Amino acid sequence: MDMNNVNIEEIVKQVLSGMTGKGAAPAAASAPAAPAANGGIPKTARVAMMTEKKHFELQEYPLPELGDDDILVKVEGCGVCGTDAHEYKNDPFGLIPVVLGHEGTGEIVAMGKNVKADTAGKPVQVGDKVVTCMIFKDDPEITMFDLNKKNVGGADVYGLLPDDDVKFNGWFADYIFIRGGKFGSTFFNVSDLDLDSRILIEPCAVLIHAVERAKTTGILKFNSRVVVQGCGPIGLICIAVLRTMGIENICAVDGNEQRLEFAKKMGASVSVNFMEHQGIEALTAAVEAAFGGHLADFAFQCTGNPKAHANIYKFIRNGGGLCELGFFINGGDAQINPHFDLCSKEINLVGSWVYNLRDYATTFDFLKRAKAIGLPMSELITHKYPLEEINEALETNLAMTGLKIAIVNK
Ligand SMILES: NC(=O)c1ccc[n+]([C@@H]2O[C@H](COP(=O)([O-])OP(=O)(O)OC[C@H]3O[C@@H](n4cnc5c(N)ncnc54)[C@H](O)[C@@H]3O)[C@@H](O)[C@H]2O)c1
Ligand SMILES: [Zn+2]
Repeated sequence: MDMNNVNIEEIVKQVLSGMTGKGAAPAAASAPAAPAANGGIPKTARVAMMTEKKHFELQEYPLPELGDDDILVKVEGCGVCGTDAHEYKNDPFGLIPVVLGHEGTGEIVAMGKNVKADTAGKPVQVGDKVVTCMIFKDDPEITMFDLNKKNVGGADVYGLLPDDDVKFNGWFADYIFIRGGKFGSTFFNVSDLDLDSRILIEPCAVLIHAVERAKTTGILKFNSRVVVQGCGPIGLICIAVLRTMGIENICAVDGNEQRLEFAKKMGASVSVNFMEHQGIEALTAAVEAAFGGHLADFAFQCTGNPKAHANIYKFIRNGGGLCELGFFINGGDAQINPHFDLCSKEINLVGSWVYNLRDYATTFDFLKRAKAIGLPMSELITHKYPLEEINEALETNLAMTGLKIAIVNK
């Protein structure tokens, strides 16, 4: 980005520190939609409230009153994340009742008079398309221009907030209310991206971050041989990011032939179906053969399976690198042999956890590059459901019959 960091930082600070938003009016019970007030904005709108495990209910509430620093966004769409599915099944975060949806995007329909620019300092106006990023309640001074800033760990996000009077706290809804002031919201103007790309921003940022982490090892090069293990949305996007960096020697590993085929469309040069190989020696030999008799220089672990974590060391050459990003959720312990797998091989291991603000800006550019070189990013979204069918959307996600499932509002 060709911007003056000092000026932008100043702008960001002004925007963030000047925010003094108030909460909106208390919610009313479910009621029929009220007629549009001004500018086509209705008085009430719906949220998909998860009221118990495996059950969303559409509930109607008054839209909150807009403070000078707040933004009201009409939701266009939102991806369903593995975390949503996890919450839907078990409520591990204890959030019920909750409005989920953190991979969302929509159009600004109203904003307070103090809102002038997004978190990157880019001007915003009514009609612009936006996404939200993290909420830095405890650190509202955080900016995207400090490269040493921590990742999202510990920060909140819209779509995983406890329910309160505002109600419009997640993207599985007709509208979302982006609170200004000390609330610490961050958001970006992404009007130059199409809807599918905007829905994919959040998961893509995970891979931008993972590749940035991988690059710290100094091993990833144009001609590196790279294994991507796990070809769900995360592994497939990993392949796409590597391709946009000019890395072409990519071996996809999964047990699902359809996903492996998609991996090839996304740019993997070879694939290995682990179901076709008995035991780790045979599997390692298959990966080695796929690379013409070489082990991998680098590997990305994109499954939540501890066995897969243990396996992946075998695919990597001495002195090679590994980025482990598959365990956003605790999948249990993995057993490795530290002598053979780590020490004697001198493996350069990095973990990767979500993203930081800076990764979002990189992601916007990545999505444009991916499109420009013809990667089938939109095909990652295999299912689109209207908000009314959110229960079905979550069930489809659990059934693993598609890749990225999205809610797209009518
Ligand atoms: N680091 C982060 O910040 C972050 C963010 C989001 C998701 N994740 C994690 O990334 C992982 C992948 O996410 P996803 O949405 O693509 O999940 P997914 O379940 O759709 O895909 C996982 C894939 O791994 C494959 N797989 C399972 N066991 C395997 C094995 N032994 N060898 C090879 N392949 C195997 C499955 O067939 C599946 O295709 C999840 O576990 C999730 O927790 C991490
Ligand atoms: Zn997510």
